[in-house]
Amino acid sequence: MAENNDRLAVVILAAGLGKRMKSELPKVLHRACGRALIDYVLDEVGGLQARQVVVVVGHGAGEVREAVGDRALCVEQSPQNGTGHAVTVAVEALDPAVEEVMVLPGDSPLVMRGTLLEMLDARRGAGSAAALLTARLEDPAGYGRVIRGPAGGVARIVEEADASAEERDVNEVNACMYAFERGPLEAGLALLTTDNAQGEYYLTEVVKRLVSRGLAVAAVPAPAEEVLGVNDREQLAAAAAVLRSRINGELMAAGVTIVDPERTYLDHGTEVGRDTVVMPLVFATGKVSIGTGCTVGPCSSINDSVIGDGCEVCYSWLDGCEVEAGATIGPYSRLRPGTRIGPGAKVGSFVEIKNTAVGRGSKVPHLSYIGDADIGEDVNVGAGSITCNYDGESKYRTVIGDRAFIGSDTMLIAPVEVGEDATTGAGSAISEDVPDGALGIERCPQSNVPGWRRRKKDKKARGQ
Ligand code: UD1
Ligand code: CA
Repeated sequence: MAENNDRLAVVILAAGLGKRMKSELPKVLHRACGRALIDYVLDEVGGLQARQVVVVVGHGAGEVREAVGDRALCVEQSPQNGTGHAVTVAVEALDPAVEEVMVLPGDSPLVMRGTLLEMLDARRGAGSAAALLTARLEDPAGYGRVIRGPAGGVARIVEEADASAEERDVNEVNACMYAFERGPLEAGLALLTTDNAQGEYYLTEVVKRLVSRGLAVAAVPAPAEEVLGVNDREQLAAAAAVLRSRINGELMAAGVTIVDPERTYLDHGTEVGRDTVVMPLVFATGKVSIGTGCTVGPCSSINDSVIGDGCEVCYSWLDGCEVEAGATIGPYSRLRPGTRIGPGAKVGSFVEIKNTAVGRGSKVPHLSYIGDADIGEDVNVGAGSITCNYDGESKYRTVIGDRAFIGSDTMLIAPVEVGEDATTGAGSAISEDVPDGALGIERCPQSNVPGWRRRKKDKKARGQ
């Protein structure tokens, strides 16, 4: 396998407009499973340890440069006159020590490093001027077709727009992924014309130039899936589906049960521990880590959160929070940023929690809003209790001590503190601190009016 890539430069083409996406966003920055398309390409390329990685930017250059960061040298192609022109701009920036140039499209996120290494090996092994990846597709529409000569070797590549009806029937397509020997590549680029249907400098034409000089061009078969280029939103969805199946496949191989992998949406990098069961319609976005032996889902959305071992999360929405071992969340809980749910704690139905720590074993089981609070251990927050944390201007904290019992429908008017082992009476609006062990109760005495009948009833009784 190609190991020494010290003379290799990789050029990633990412300057095109991406017209068919119909988007304000540069095509290579569209996201699939939580990452930009170009991130996937840069990842695979990173593993090659090439001497140089160059990204050709153009449309939305500033944004693409920012996304690429220090992972590659960005060179600008302006105007964008085709893939051949893009490579011409890139080779001008190459280090003199570079002898071999790999070209990849930035819009093809599914290619894998092993396939790229095979391409390098094929070129080097055969001493060819170039090697290119090809695939046989059931539906080759939109791709350049590989036209083979009488002896079976690659003769040229024809773009769909320039192809005859017969050529369009060819189902072997060009992946736009090449390994070139530098000298012949540069010589071929110098001869390109814009004499084609799109009036652009096609990189594909270099292949014809090499062949007409009698140089060998090796075709390396690649899995159909890996050559998928994203030109429109349908292809974006198709690429995302493949990426998803890879993510889910790896997790299943590592001991995670995914009940319905086609309906489980875990972004690239999601960590899930062994023996966790992920039910359908779970979305994990951003940086998510889920422990071992959990049950997650169905229908839950988890963003930038850490969930410990043995937790249950069901029909819930979690963002920027930490859930410690053995806690249960849901159904229908909403945990907002800054929330930390302690070990074995329970958050139940129709409960919203924000910027709050809930201590070990505490329960907020029903219909509550808890914001900006510190809740100790083994606290019970009764149904319908609310922290009134906002006076229209500022936010204030509520502190509840260990083993406190918050009666149902308590309004905790912050800033306020309820001490350890304290109790609040159901229906109380607590605006003053409740000392340890005390009962805080705020209720008008109830008055009963004997024999009182509601007016409506009276009318009915009188037959009106
Ligand atoms: C290209 C190939 C086609 C191949 C297909 C595989 C050519 C002429 N065609 O077609 O044979 O089957 O890829 O997916 O090479 N780009 C630039 N500068 C430009 C134009 C394009 O950097 O001036 C970049 C684009 O951003 C994109 C890549 O090159 O990442 C490919 O361009 P695109 O327009 O998508 O080419 P395809 O029509 O897909
Ligand atoms: Ca493309």
